[in-house]
Amino acid sequence: MSEKLDLILFGVTGLVGRYGVRHLYKLSKEKNLTFGVAGRNEQKIKNVLVKLEEETGDKSIAKIPIILADMSDEQSIKQMTSRCKVLIQSCGPLRQLGEVVVKACIESRTHYVDVSAEENFIDKVALEYQEQAKKAGIYMVGSCGIDCIAYDLGVLYIQKKFRGTVNSVETYLKMDTDDPTLTGPSYNVSTWKSTIDLMLNKRELKALQARIFNKNMPKLKPALGTKHLPFKPYVEDGWSILLTGSDRSVMMRTQQYLYEEKNKRPVQVQTYYMLKALWYLIFFVIFGLMFAFLLPFKLGRKILLRYPAFFTGGVFGNEEPSQAMCENAWFRLTFVAKGWKDKIVGPDEKFNEKPNHGMMLQVKGKNPGYGGTALCLVLAGVMIATQADKLPSKPGVYTPGIAFGETTIVEDLHERGLSFDVLNEFAISS
Ligand SMILES: NC(=O)c1ccc[n+]([C@@H]2O[C@H](COP(=O)([O-])OP(=O)(O)OC[C@H]3O[C@@H](n4cnc5c(N)ncnc54)[C@H](OP(=O)(O)O)[C@@H]3O)[C@@H](O)[C@H]2O)c1
Repeated sequence: MSEKLDLILFGVTGLVGRYGVRHLYKLSKEKNLTFGVAGRNEQKIKNVLVKLEEETGDKSIAKIPIILADMSDEQSIKQMTSRCKVLIQSCGPLRQLGEVVVKACIESRTHYVDVSAEENFIDKVALEYQEQAKKAGIYMVGSCGIDCIAYDLGVLYIQKKFRGTVNSVETYLKMDTDDPTLTGPSYNVSTWKSTIDLMLNKRELKALQARIFNKNMPKLKPALGTKHLPFKPYVEDGWSILLTGSDRSVMMRTQQYLYEEKNKRPVQVQTYYMLKALWYLIFFVIFGLMFAFLLPFKLGRKILLRYPAFFTGGVFGNEEPSQAMCENAWFRLTFVAKGWKDKIVGPDEKFNEKPNHGMMLQVKGKNPGYGGTALCLVLAGVMIATQADKLPSKPGVYTPGIAFGETTIVEDLHERGLSFDVLNEFAISS
């Protein structure tokens, strides 16, 4: 049998996959890695490669190995995972079909990264495949899209740069476009489908999280409050609303690991999303209520799935976002950290004074949904292929922060347009 490929990108025909193959092509040249592309439709895969050849003028692209695999055909998935050292999974949604790929990677001892932001899937893999991944000697890292990578590595970056001890971090995510005249959806319908699926399966998520989170974590003081009602923060213009989703739970898992395994004081985190103006907030409330009303009913869900543009003010749509829409989009994620100037010795040690020192960090970049996500995902796979000595010493299922905290991923992202910058440090007067 021929030697294994270093990496395979599965789902290359999707929007993330098509951006991903461009990053993988460049990175594999830079780092001297071999790669193949996989999907379930040969003609669509060939079309992707033809486009890449047109863009680069590189005739050797026609020789990139193509692997046919379908998540509803277990055998084809096993054959695919046995052909590479690291599988980059960019298909979705994964909650219902994705486990077959995880199992096949364990069986063939293939490292695995995926793009999923589906909390139930992320937590299920972490809970149910940890021991098997460890035994197989592989690293499995879910949630390697731009969101969890920026949040999780952003908090670790602050912890590294902060002079003393970080007690809490609040984050504010702002997303917008450089060209407001563009029309059409900003995001693919597959993400809308995942959102509906996740909202419907909140109970499953609650049960998973009751198992995943350690109830005996230290009670940190001062406790970071949660602002449930919209408010105007000082860091950005507009209104902030509480943001729920995988980003916070991924950061909390990383902090839990650092406490349990490295005896580090954890950081409390809370996430908020920025709405530009009051009328966005009013729209959000009205359509949020409609969503909540329709979701429990089969017919209601059918309507939600059929008319994504109506229920999201055009953010999601049945057709794919245009290239211009993707490439004019930008995001800015601001972290506000508070703590003390002094270093703390142990995780349970307490300070007698109120937090006196703060720091702001900003992570920002263009085309977050697709080009940026694809870059994060592909770089995650490349980190496993090239920086094994900087991964945790024991293999297993990890968050991006745990897996890549010691690698050069932040510098690599920064170099490629996803910047991590400390904005300032400030004193907090009591
Ligand atoms: N974490 C983040 O920040 C982030 C950002 C963007 C997207 N995402 C997630 O990433 C996933 C992909 O997004 P996208 O916009 O690229 O979606 P997409 O354009 O709809 O692509 C989906 C991909 O999955 C493949 N696929 C679906 N079912 C399959 C099956 N049974 N077997 C094999 N392949 C299958 C599709 O193949 P065909 O082309 O043959 O249909 C296609 O390649 C979604 O779940 C999305 O929610 C996450």
